[in-house]
Amino acid sequence: MKKPLQFYNFLFLIVILLSAPLKAQDQSDSQRMKWFKEAKLGIFIHWGIYSVNGIDESWSFFNGYISYEDYMKQLSGFTARKYDPEYWAGLIKESGARYAVLTTKHHDGFALWDSKWSELDVRKTKARKDLVKPFAEALRQQGLKVGLYFSLLDWSHPDYPNFLRNEKRYETDPVKWQRFVKFNFDQLKELSVNYRPDLYWFDGDWEQSAEQWKAKELSDSLRQWNPNVILNSRIRGYGDYATPEQGLPVSRPKDKYWELCMTTNDSWGYQHNDHNYKSANQIIRIFVDCIGLGGNLLLGIGPKADGTIPEEQEKILKSLGKWTKKHEEAIYNTRAGVPAGHFYGPTTLSADRKILYLFLDHRPNGPIVIKGLKNKINRIRVVGNGTKLSHKIVGKQYWSDVPGLLYIDVPENSLDKDVSVIALQLDGEISLYREDGQVIECN
Ligand code: GLC
Repeated sequence: MKKPLQFYNFLFLIVILLSAPLKAQDQSDSQRMKWFKEAKLGIFIHWGIYSVNGIDESWSFFNGYISYEDYMKQLSGFTARKYDPEYWAGLIKESGARYAVLTTKHHDGFALWDSKWSELDVRKTKARKDLVKPFAEALRQQGLKVGLYFSLLDWSHPDYPNFLRNEKRYETDPVKWQRFVKFNFDQLKELSVNYRPDLYWFDGDWEQSAEQWKAKELSDSLRQWNPNVILNSRIRGYGDYATPEQGLPVSRPKDKYWELCMTTNDSWGYQHNDHNYKSANQIIRIFVDCIGLGGNLLLGIGPKADGTIPEEQEKILKSLGKWTKKHEEAIYNTRAGVPAGHFYGPTTLSADRKILYLFLDHRPNGPIVIKGLKNKINRIRVVGNGTKLSHKIVGKQYWSDVPGLLYIDVPENSLDKDVSVIALQLDGEISLYREDGQVIECN
C-alpha cells in the first residue's frame, strides 16, 4: 500500500525534532571545549608532602615502601617557604602552555588548601595557608586556565574503605560509605565555589564503581556549580576527555578530545634522586606527535617542599617555550593533521584547513616528499624564519587522477635545531587522494 506524502513529511519532522536537542548539545559541548582543544599544552603540577622525602606520591605508603606514620611525618617538612605562584605562572606562560593543573589533593588525602571538611591539610604544615587560591589567581592574571587535580579516593580518610594494599578499614559499611561520598561532594563544592576552576582533573576512580561514587550526580553538580567546567574522564566515564598516561598514542585515539599526561623524568612529584629527564628535544617531538593526532600534552613538573621548581624542570620549560613561541602558528588553534602515509612525520592543519604544517624532526637526506595531495600550492615557507621554499611535482600523469609526488627542498640553514616546521599554503581546503594508486592486476 502506498503511504501518503504527508506521512513521510511527518516522519521527517519527527526525526528533525528528535535530533535538534542532540545537535544543540553537541554545539554547546564544542563551545565549552573550545579553549581546551586550542590550548595544546598544559603543565601538570604534583605538589604535596611527598616532596619532602622525595618519594612516590601516596603510593609509597599504600604499597608498603614506607609506613603510614613515617609518610605523614613529612607534614612537618612541607614549608612552601619560597612559594612564588606569580613566578610559577610566568614560567608556565613562558613554556607556551595555556593551562595548568595542580594536585589539590592526591590519594594520601592531604589538601593543599585549608578545607572546612578535613583536618589533613596545609594547616598541619609550616605552610599554614591556602596554597591553591594564590595559584589560581596568578594563573588567571597571566590569562591561563586553571585546572584542579582531585583524587576521588582518599586512603587517609577514616570513612574510606581502602587504606593499604594489604589492609582495608572495612569491606561494606553503607553508613561510613555514604559519609565519605558526602565528604567528597563537600570538598568539591568548596573547591568549585572558592576557586571556580576551568577544569577538574580527577584520579583514583578505579577503586569504586560509578554508582558508588555517584559519578553522574557528581558531574551534574560540578557543572551546576561551574557551568563551563571541563572534566577529565577519570570519573567513571562522566567526563569530557580521555587521559592516556605516559604512553604516547601511535594512532589517533577514537575520543574526540584527549590529553597525554607525561612526566619530565620518571616521577610525578619531586624526587631528588630522579635525574632521568627527557631532553627538551624529546619532549618537543612527543608534543608534535600529540598535536598531530589532535590531542594535548599535559607535561608534569614536581616542585620541591619549599615551593621552588627544580632547575632541570625549569630549563625544560624554557627550552620548550623558545620552540613553541617560534612556531606558534603551527600549534595553537590548529587541528589534527593528515593521516599517516602522506608525509613521514606529524602534521597539523590550520583551522580553515588551507595550510598544512609539516613537522620535520631530522635533517632530510634530499628533498622532503608529500604524497597524495590534490591541491595546488600557493606558497611554501619555513615557519619562524620566513624562508620561501621551492618545490617540484614529479610523476603526475595526465591520464590519471593520482597526484604526483611533491618534493620540497629544505636548505640546511633554515632547519630548526629541534623540530623544523614547513607551512604549505594551499589553493583551498586540503584535498587528499586516499586510494591505492589504481593498481592494475596482471594475473
Ligand atoms: C596515576 C597515579 C598518580 C598520578 C596520576 C597522574 O593515576 O595514581 O600517582 O598522580 O597517575 O596521571
